[in-house]
Amino acid sequence: MEKDRICVVGGGFVGLTTALAFVHHGRRVVLVEVIPDKRVALASGQVPFHEPGLDDALPAALASGNLEIVGDLTAAVSSSCATFLCVGTPSRDDGSIDLRFVAAAARDVGRALEGRTTPHLVVVKSTVLPGTTVGLVRQAVEETSHRTSDTGVSVASNPEFLAEGTAYRDALEPERIVLGTLREEDRELLASLYEGFPGDRLAVDPTTAETIKYASNSFLAARVALSNEFANLCADVGVDWYTVADAIGRDPRIGPMFLRAGAGFGGSCFPKDVRAVTAFGRERGQPLGILEAVLANNEAQPLVPVRLLEEALGGLAGKRVALLGLAFKADTDDVRETRAQPIWRALRAAGAEVLCHDPMAGKTFGQLEPEAVIMPSIDAALQDADGCILQTEWKEYQAITPEQYKGRMNRAVVVDGRRIHDPVAMRAAGVDYRAVGLGLQG
Ligand code: UGA
Repeated sequence: MEKDRICVVGGGFVGLTTALAFVHHGRRVVLVEVIPDKRVALASGQVPFHEPGLDDALPAALASGNLEIVGDLTAAVSSSCATFLCVGTPSRDDGSIDLRFVAAAARDVGRALEGRTTPHLVVVKSTVLPGTTVGLVRQAVEETSHRTSDTGVSVASNPEFLAEGTAYRDALEPERIVLGTLREEDRELLASLYEGFPGDRLAVDPTTAETIKYASNSFLAARVALSNEFANLCADVGVDWYTVADAIGRDPRIGPMFLRAGAGFGGSCFPKDVRAVTAFGRERGQPLGILEAVLANNEAQPLVPVRLLEEALGGLAGKRVALLGLAFKADTDDVRETRAQPIWRALRAAGAEVLCHDPMAGKTFGQLEPEAVIMPSIDAALQDADGCILQTEWKEYQAITPEQYKGRMNRAVVVDGRRIHDPVAMRAAGVDYRAVGLGLQG
């Protein structure tokens, strides 16, 4: 066991980013990835998903000799002082969280610690509901290792706040590091692993740490949903939500971030975490009614741009529609919970022919919706279209000119679901431009 050697279990988005950030700050990391194909790719310096910065950081970390990618968890755990669990926590059909992978990883780590005498801290980084670390995880580790904190095996929670697209930077330069521990020595060890990282250290207990993560994502998701709700009202009364948002965002008590109205929030975190915590609240007899409404808003919101296009075209049946933007946000190929999916389905259900495009997520969206027609370029998607919906704020789409819409499309009707264009400039140039949160005269 080495004092500055860390084991990270799970070579996905969170595990890999975390491992690379630790290596960058001088720690030695052994990353356990059990899926052979993924392991081989990672060990050869290839990142199996798109995330800015990782393509350079991974080969550099491997070359430094401070990152090892392995499949054998037992040796990795026993040669380290702490293990970070970074495994997936998928949703079940009822929205509750499936802790199968966390439980299995905790048991594997426990088995690796059995019969040893060196101390070890099992740190949960996966997003798990309040009480999971001191409950299910501690129990699994203790049962399999036959050790407790009295014999040096303890558990902690250290949630991540990584946003896709900026994850590596978020990991290298966190605003805060939440150290959720049960004992002073665990806090000291965890803090020492983060030596050299910037950011405030918040020392709490594991259950508080877990709650911080859910509260954080719930508040952000709720801001987006409230922005969407207000945006719909603004459009109805003929004003522009973005003008309103700019004004309210200047109040320091509100702030300017996460007020962008559009087609709703997607991704692997907000929808899943809000569903999980509302299911948890219901189960505990503490219903989270505001968050239930957030989820309902987010289901309805993708239909707003569809309705705007339908109004503009006088119906969608037989119309050719370009759907630009399939990823759940820009700078990723991730389509999990993307709002492009309900938009695509609604357009098709209304009888439209849909030509899709995305700079990066064409392939992943095609796996989600095998019948989707993915066009190779923006121009190909726009060609002869009767209308266009912009779903992702890619910079490639921001650069589309009014002339391009007018030159390619049958009718230059553009519904901006992410407010990437300037309404005044688009309308002045003759585009029939409509947008979520924008009154027609707005
Ligand atoms: C989110 C959080 O921002 C991270 O802090 C957190 O660590 C992460 O979840 C997680 O739990 O792992 P992420 O899902 O990558 O990160 O993306 P966000 O940038 O938060 O966007 C989520 C969704 O909200 C996107 O669909 C985005 O388009 C939408 N959004 C965001 C809006 O519609 N309006 C906004 O103003 C901001």
